[in-house]
Amino acid sequence: MRILVLSLFLIAFLGIVKGQENFIKPGEVWKDIDGKPINAHGAGIMEHKGTYYLYGEIKEGNTWLVPDQGWECYRVPAGGVSCYSSKDLLNWKYEGVALAATTNDPTSDIDTGKVIERPKVVYNKSTGKFVMWMHIDSKDYSYARSGVAVSDSPNGPFVYINSIRPNGNMARDMTLFQDDDGKVYHFYSSEENSTMHMSLLTDDYLSHTKTEKRILINQSRESPAVFKYNKKYYVITSGTTGWSPNPASYAVADSVLGEWTNLGNPCIGNDADKTFHSQSTYVLPLKNNKNSFVYLGDRWNKLDLKDSRIVWLPLEMKDGKPEINWKASWIPITGK
Ligand code: DGJ
Repeated sequence: MRILVLSLFLIAFLGIVKGQENFIKPGEVWKDIDGKPINAHGAGIMEHKGTYYLYGEIKEGNTWLVPDQGWECYRVPAGGVSCYSSKDLLNWKYEGVALAATTNDPTSDIDTGKVIERPKVVYNKSTGKFVMWMHIDSKDYSYARSGVAVSDSPNGPFVYINSIRPNGNMARDMTLFQDDDGKVYHFYSSEENSTMHMSLLTDDYLSHTKTEKRILINQSRESPAVFKYNKKYYVITSGTTGWSPNPASYAVADSVLGEWTNLGNPCIGNDADKTFHSQSTYVLPLKNNKNSFVYLGDRWNKLDLKDSRIVWLPLEMKDGKPEINWKASWIPITGK
């Protein structure tokens, strides 16, 4: 009996030491299993062989306002991309810097003086490579390109290849969507953020095909997060108000390359008009229940960007409509 009590005490103690998380608490500091705040913003998740990998922007250092921009162009040095792993979406192990930024090289796309945002990773079964796409920009956001990097393992290191304007188009906020047939589509805010574009990647996921479609035309949407439900495709986006929150909205299509119809705000209740003080970045399906997803968002602190918080909330499908309600704390049931 004494041994049992001691063992339970030890397990509980190790849980505290190891920073065991029992709930997701949106907007609070979320610590990894070593007790350090998770530094992964504009994040995405890739599941590989039963493990979730979280990739996000590393935001460190002082926030400053780029002068003479006429908008809230707050910045921190581009810190590269972090990677964390988890089996339960609650307890995250820091895997290190997946893509390192360079320093003192203004010619490099991934220099600390540039912008590296919204990294997303997909696994290519045919090539065995992990492919990361991200928004690459200059400090005034006029470069407007997409960068690509590749790795042999999910936690990196990723080797940066180059950046492009997909099919010649400006590209800022972005995400990747991998369909059940393995095809990957790159969604990005284009045309000075007035219109979203979506482009099919080549089979190796390293470049763009000419299959390209303009969606949400002149609707000024950014921060796309795409998911599939009952054979339909959904994209959640935000408006374009810099780092400040605004109402999200979702659009639906019968096929990725089909017609996308905007159907309004998926958020419900107090602060729904501010997306619960967050901006979308990813939507992850939960395996236990085909109606359940996790909405991943960022609560930006524009005056101190490194203190931006993670806002993950349950997204439930009801009669084909996504609904996001505020939850101060909750547990995602990952299932098998
Ligand atoms: C909104 C975007 O969604 C963010 O990723 C970031 O680029 C900010 N704008 C910059 O103001």
